[in-house]
Amino acid sequence: MGAKLTQALRDREILLIVGGGIAVYKSLDLVRRLRALGARVRVVMTTAAKEFVSPLAFVSLSNEAVHETLFSATDEQEMGHIQLSRRADLIVVAPATAHLLARAANGLCDDLATTLMLATDKRIVFAPAMNVRMWTHPATQKNIDTLRSQGAYFVGPDEGEMACGEFGPGRMSEVEDIVDKIISVCAQETRLPLPRGVQQCPRIIGNDLIGRHVLITSGPTHEAIDPVRYIANRSSGRQGHALAHAAVAAGARVTLITGPVTLADPPACQVIHVESAAQMSAAVEQALPADVFIGVAAVADWRVVQADHKIKKEPGASAPVFTLVENPDILASVAKSQKRPALVIGFAAETQNLIDSGRKKLIAKGCDMIIANDVGEGSEVFGGANNEAHVIMRDSLQSWPKMDKMMLATKLVELIAQRLSPEGANR
Ligand code: C5P
Repeated sequence: MGAKLTQALRDREILLIVGGGIAVYKSLDLVRRLRALGARVRVVMTTAAKEFVSPLAFVSLSNEAVHETLFSATDEQEMGHIQLSRRADLIVVAPATAHLLARAANGLCDDLATTLMLATDKRIVFAPAMNVRMWTHPATQKNIDTLRSQGAYFVGPDEGEMACGEFGPGRMSEVEDIVDKIISVCAQETRLPLPRGVQQCPRIIGNDLIGRHVLITSGPTHEAIDPVRYIANRSSGRQGHALAHAAVAAGARVTLITGPVTLADPPACQVIHVESAAQMSAAVEQALPADVFIGVAAVADWRVVQADHKIKKEPGASAPVFTLVENPDILASVAKSQKRPALVIGFAAETQNLIDSGRKKLIAKGCDMIIANDVGEGSEVFGGANNEAHVIMRDSLQSWPKMDKMMLATKLVELIAQRLSPEGANR
């Protein structure tokens, strides 16, 4: 192999999905060869693959933990399945059994391997291995066509004598051929085009948030007056939800506690739906500890002493008078909590003296950062797509120009990652 080729996979990350077939022994060699070419290889094994070879063999050859189950608490906290599938430059499935191909072609995701294939934004190279009749079966061929039309690549299978005694196509390609295919695919763009309607969060650069727990409140709260009426505010939840997206993109484990909004739940985070400030407060307390708390929700300061039954309009009777009681200040209590996150961040919607009021709030609530924004008439921050913020910290101030809420979320997540110390992650 020439000098140029020996560099071909330097700093590339390959996610190798190992299906259950006798060709697994070749995949062990594949790991060794890919690493020798400079690639980092993370291995995922299906349950059937483990019948043929122990995960320990792949651990030893890849020098990485082998991922096996979808519902592994440690894996999900260290690197969730979305990260696992997105960090890689390329996914390679070898051996790709008929069943694995069928599940991938039909979008099934009942184990870690198939979930990764469905969630990935990268190309997949399949190295099929199966009995000749299974390979030539119209069902398998249809699945291959489907996967090709979705941008997948195939290497092999080769023709030859099979373990089952038949002769024909079905043997997994030789390791050199699989490696050549991987090199040629890696030389091109391995990222799949964005599906319609999906937006890419700007990439978080610098320190990322892998291993960190980020707790976010978003949206308004509804404070019941009686069983059918409530007091609300104009918060749309767009900024809080955008922050959840950005924190997930940076690798964090995200818990989003949201009041009633019309937005879809952001993917890959734990979303808890609440209505009132009291429910939000309880949910936040339950979700601690966290490394970062970001209180974006427009929490009602007061609630009505609630009537048990619908208040009726009686002819001639005077209008009802509501008694208000103060709601818990969630941000201030998180900042005072024994489980105080390393960074406690609040938002301050103001109509005048933004920075002064923001500084006072920073001290009064005991937080580390206040994002002050002007919600005065004409600002269109509440419910709108843009935001213009002053980031007030104890030691500094940053004034950011008007930008899209997603962009603001990304910038804020970058700043959070810079401010967090490497120690003390609350997994
Ligand atoms: O006091 P004010 O409502 O202006 O403070 C805004 C900040 O405090 C926001 O971050 C908001 O989420 C948080 N807050 C809270 N609980 C309240 C009121 C506000 O967490 N009861």
